[in-house]
Amino acid sequence: METMHIPADQAGILKAAEALKTGLLVGVPTETVYGLAADALNPQAVRAIFQAKGRPADNPLIVHVLNKAQAEGLAVITPLAEMLMDAFWPGPLTLVVPRQKIVPDVVTAGLDTVALRAPSHPAMRKLLLESGLAIAAPSANRSGAPSPTTAEHVMNDLNGLIPLVLDGGPCEVGLESTVADAAGSIPVVLRPGAVTPEMIAAVAGECLVAQSAMRPLHEGEAAPSPGLRHRHYAPKAPLTLVKGPQDKVAARIRALYGAEERACVLVMEGRLSAYQGLKAFSLGQDMNQAAHRLFTLLRQADGAGCSRILAEALPEEGLGLALMNRLARAADFDIQIV
Ligand code: TXA
Ligand code: MG
Repeated sequence: METMHIPADQAGILKAAEALKTGLLVGVPTETVYGLAADALNPQAVRAIFQAKGRPADNPLIVHVLNKAQAEGLAVITPLAEMLMDAFWPGPLTLVVPRQKIVPDVVTAGLDTVALRAPSHPAMRKLLLESGLAIAAPSANRSGAPSPTTAEHVMNDLNGLIPLVLDGGPCEVGLESTVADAAGSIPVVLRPGAVTPEMIAAVAGECLVAQSAMRPLHEGEAAPSPGLRHRHYAPKAPLTLVKGPQDKVAARIRALYGAEERACVLVMEGRLSAYQGLKAFSLGQDMNQAAHRLFTLLRQADGAGCSRILAEALPEEGLGLALMNRLARAADFDIQIV
């Protein structure tokens, strides 16, 4: 299959809307990462998403909607969910709520809840409007690879497997949305993202973070979010995270680097000076830039043939929590404490 890669302008969006309505898959830009979209109420189209991504069937998808009104047709909107929708939609917050029967089993992997998100990206909103559909879309990477934050990343992973990719430029946030369980009365963050637990608590009064968001599941432990069972965001090169006082971290990273043929270092801009003479990638000046760049840099490290990626741990506050969640998973929890 030839994959068309076209701009996300009015003509492109109309073409994508038609494709979705006939049950085809489309790579689409959102403010977080690129999604692999299909009509959420067409089980056959949704099955094709799992096939193109090589995604395990037990990992449910996020359904994208324009607004609360559309969400009401798909799920039970709890008072907590409504409060969070009013505060953060459209934007990078996905809410897990009890589903209605209309949502196919293949979307929710048989769960009695569904994950809903109203994206803010203007092209994605136009696509929702023009198609009139609820759009199921996981990140548009091959399963296990870092999420795509440009249309080129989508092409690299899915060229030949899907008919169409809409190019809306690089994604603003760069990390996947926050996933929060809003089925009960207290929000629980299952996957940290740009809407932080602090921001949610400021609206809802409190906010929990699932323990399994930041550590591997124990043998036999039930996953609050099925995605936590699978390895994620992984570059091809093994990644090691080093945590501790800065001078000790730099010494450990230099030692690990020296033992490798082609290692590279991944650190904040302000820390580059500790790694002079080493091949190093900068995550930028602040956490927003780091989020924006992380997945691109993981792909670049692979492209450059790095045999091992060595990264400094980041402070787990604000957006740092989401960054560390992705880094820890990319490292398969290989975290050295010095
Ligand atoms: O930013 C994003 O969320 C992007 C863009 C395209 O919207 N999408 C995305 O989808 O990251 P995906 O499939 O890569 O991640 C969805 C996560 C998975 O970890 C999945 O397990 C979880 O949401 N999830 C989906 N439905 C769920 C449910 N009913 N209960 C708990 N977790 C759920
Ligand atoms: Mg994903």
